[in-house]
Amino acid sequence: MTTLARGPAGAQPPAKAHPPAKTRRKAGTGEPDGTGEPDGADHPALSGLPAMWLRANCPCGTCRDPGSGQRLVTITDLPARVTVAEVRASGEVVEVVFGPDGHRATFAAGWLARYGQPAAGVTPAPDGPDDDRAEDAKRLWAAADLPGGLPHGWWPRYLADPVHRSGCLSAVLTQGLVVLHEVPCEPGAVLAVARSLGYVRETNYGRLFDVRAEPAPANLAFTRRPIAPHTDNPYRDPVPSVQLLHCLHSAAGGGESTFADGFRAAAELRRQDPAAFACLTTTPVTFAYSDAATVLRATAPVIGLDPRGRIRQIRLNGRSLAPVRLTAAQARAFYTAYRAFAELAASPEATVTARLSPGDCVIADNTRILHGRTGFTDSGGSGRRHLQGCYADLDGLASAVAVLARGQAGRAEQ
Ligand code: FE2
Repeated sequence: MTTLARGPAGAQPPAKAHPPAKTRRKAGTGEPDGTGEPDGADHPALSGLPAMWLRANCPCGTCRDPGSGQRLVTITDLPARVTVAEVRASGEVVEVVFGPDGHRATFAAGWLARYGQPAAGVTPAPDGPDDDRAEDAKRLWAAADLPGGLPHGWWPRYLADPVHRSGCLSAVLTQGLVVLHEVPCEPGAVLAVARSLGYVRETNYGRLFDVRAEPAPANLAFTRRPIAPHTDNPYRDPVPSVQLLHCLHSAAGGGESTFADGFRAAAELRRQDPAAFACLTTTPVTFAYSDAATVLRATAPVIGLDPRGRIRQIRLNGRSLAPVRLTAAQARAFYTAYRAFAELAASPEATVTARLSPGDCVIADNTRILHGRTGFTDSGGSGRRHLQGCYADLDGLASAVAVLARGQAGRAEQ
């Protein structure tokens, strides 16, 4: 019999010794609690998991590399008609003999239960949502849901205290953004913030970009104009999924930043006008950007859904929406729906307005949070509004949170 090794994602807990309560069954014997599954996987200790699932996730040293935990066998290496020939359950240890080749596996019962079907009348243990990027893993908000303002933290504490850092970064995953105060007002400091949560995504705008009024702007962001709520760079595929903006100087007048939860606006559209929601989730449109050195285009719906139909990514940016290629009827429906969504996204109920102070750095989920600004005036010198921005990605940020959680769990066990 193989020994316990880590399961998928290295998450399998060690089996604990329990008083022997052994049950042993030959598959297909029709014992009272069996369901008579054709692949023999009818033992209650298997939590309803079919034979092929069990074999594909066998943690033994032949099937998985003991060092990395990565799978050594491919699906085509496995017998096409795997069966469970024998099950021996003893406390937390579940031993399985597979047919037709007699391969053996040892699982922890609790680990199987995490993935299995619950027995009748049993509530499954929550194992979190299956996709942390989709709406049901988020805490959607309107302005009234944030009476204390935007989620926020302090950069010096963020650096010194892993619990504070974890809380700040977790806010980006659940609420879509966090404002870090007291980031040094030095050019390039935004890159240090990005590196603290993952990897800087360099683009045609550089590793970082300056958001300030330019004499010959290639992007309206680099003017004093107001900017409507939007996500950045919808003309890229993939879109940079984290946006950072660090305030070095505030404007003399105006220049407030606005933030809204695009997932909530989309969910509100779905509730108020299902046809408009369906239009924006099923109509691919093209976003485009070009300048002297760059031509970028990407085509996707304004509201992206995952395969289960959940809201997963917003692309909303009136500056870079290319002329839509639709029939007249489709175009009429699209513009009606697009307007309805944009109105919800810009409504006072949805919008938190915040004047960033020098040293404030916003970290935002650019697949979800819609940001904008009011127009502004500069008075010259230190009165000139100046933000520095850069991009990173949510997978790195989620990894940083998971690693911090692993460290906290390790300390808790000490
Ligand atoms: Fe932007």
